[in-house]
Amino acid sequence: MSLRGSAQRRRPRNDVLFLVLTLLFSMNSLTISSPAKVNLFLKVLGRRRDGYHELLTRFHRISLQDQIILKKIKKPQFRLITTHLKLRSVRKNLIYKAYRLLKNSADWQGGVEVKLRKRIPIAAGLGGGSSNAAHFLLGMNRLFGLRLSRAALVKIGAQIGSDVPFFLYQTKEAIGTGRGERIKVIPCRHKLWFVLVVPQSGISTAQVYQQLKAAPLTRISADATITSAFSRGMRKKEKGHRLHNDLFPVSSRLLPQLRQIDALFDQVGAPERLMSGSGPTIFSIHPFKEEAEKVARRIQRLKLNAQVFVCHTY
Ligand code: C5P
Repeated sequence: MSLRGSAQRRRPRNDVLFLVLTLLFSMNSLTISSPAKVNLFLKVLGRRRDGYHELLTRFHRISLQDQIILKKIKKPQFRLITTHLKLRSVRKNLIYKAYRLLKNSADWQGGVEVKLRKRIPIAAGLGGGSSNAAHFLLGMNRLFGLRLSRAALVKIGAQIGSDVPFFLYQTKEAIGTGRGERIKVIPCRHKLWFVLVVPQSGISTAQVYQQLKAAPLTRISADATITSAFSRGMRKKEKGHRLHNDLFPVSSRLLPQLRQIDALFDQVGAPERLMSGSGPTIFSIHPFKEEAEKVARRIQRLKLNAQVFVCHTY
């Protein structure tokens, strides 16, 4: 995440007045980038008693990002400004949910205006809403000097959505267990390139999990055992530990276009591909930018009813 105080963009000159004004306005607003994620692996271990599913997943942060501008306002209110038509309902926005929870847990009474510039497609399996909520929390913590620890932020984040804690760790890669909210940061040694193909119609995560015929969990294995076995598998590049998503069969039943898109990646010479989260985004993985751009051009020529993005590890 990059956090830029609005006043930091102005260059201090030999002008005392300018310096005073700069200091006065220095933390009145904050510009935050809010990146997306893909899941490089997603295994559903079983259905839990609370209705959620126990997961083992590998989160990877990517450069496709939204921008959030936070501004202090005098009235103790929440204002959300966005041009995205689907996000006009403020109360449904995860940023608003984050604001409500923050007010309760941080004993903070201020007001904030949030400008959200959306680039990450909505309901696409890219964690856009979760990232917005997480980066809002990180930004508020800094802008208002709330001094909340990471553990406190993660506790709030987990109540907003299962993907929110990953973004609060501000890491390129991590293993997620539990609902996906228990995070173990892992080193990310290589910058990878991705071609994302995002069909126009989104998919409801809740619906995908509802239709999944996962066996009830009889025993939840200790996180440590699961994650260390998984990390060992990743190091050895064991088959089955790479590019796997248990949700694909369900999501592609809900949106049959997904099977077509999945097959197209073979045609355009990108066999290493996977659906992210509950979909519908399908992405291919490339070691170099040029290769990713070539694949994206080939896909664009097919004139699918889908958006195509090239991005990288972030
Ligand atoms: O946590 P989040 O709000 O992103 O989840 C959306 C829905 O997806 C949940 O209401 C739940 O039905 C389902 N879900 C699940 N198991 C998970 C994550 C999500 O069943 N690990």
